[in-house]
Amino acid sequence: MSEKIEGVSREVCDATEYVCFVTQGPDGPHLSGHWGSYMKIDEEGRTLLFPVGRFQRTEKNLRNNARIQLMVASRKVQGTRSPGQGCVIEGLGEIVLEGKPLDEVRERFPWARGALVVRVQGVATQL
Ligand SMILES: Cc1cc2nc3c(=O)[nH]c(=O)nc-3n(C[C@H](O)[C@H](O)[C@H](O)COP(=O)(O)O)c2cc1C
Repeated sequence: MSEKIEGVSREVCDATEYVCFVTQGPDGPHLSGHWGSYMKIDEEGRTLLFPVGRFQRTEKNLRNNARIQLMVASRKVQGTRSPGQGCVIEGLGEIVLEGKPLDEVRERFPWARGALVVRVQGVATQL
C-alpha cells in the first residue's frame, strides 16, 4: 500500500480506459465512472481531478460521506505474473462548483459544471 500515486500505479492511471468510483449512499454503495484520459493527477500523485457533468448522486453521497474508492486497470501494464495491472485508490472526494479546480478542468472540458477532487490516502496494486 502506497500513500500516493507513483511508479506502476501512475502507469496504470495513465493507461486505464475508464475509472470506477464507489461512494456510500443511504441505500448502500453507489457506482459511477469516468474516462481514464479525463483524469488529471498532480505531480506529487496526491490529488486527482475529473470534470463533472452529471454525477448528481455521487455529489450528494460525498457531501454526507467524503470517502471514495476508485478502480483503474490496464492490460498494457505488466503485473507481477502476467500482462495486466489494476489499482484500488482510496481517498476523500468532493465535487467543487467554483474556484481553481473548476477553472482547471474547464480549460480542457468547458462543459464541466464542477470538478471532482480526490485527495489520495492509499493506493494498492491488485495483480
Ligand atoms: C466510462 C464512463 C465515462 C463517463 N463519462 C462521463 C463524463 O464525461 N461526464 C459525466 O458527467 N458523466 C460521465 N459518466 C457518467 C457518470 O459516471 C455517472 O454515472 C453519471 O453522471 C450519473 O451520476 P450519478 O449516478 O452520481 O448521479 C461516465 C460513465 C462512464 C462509465
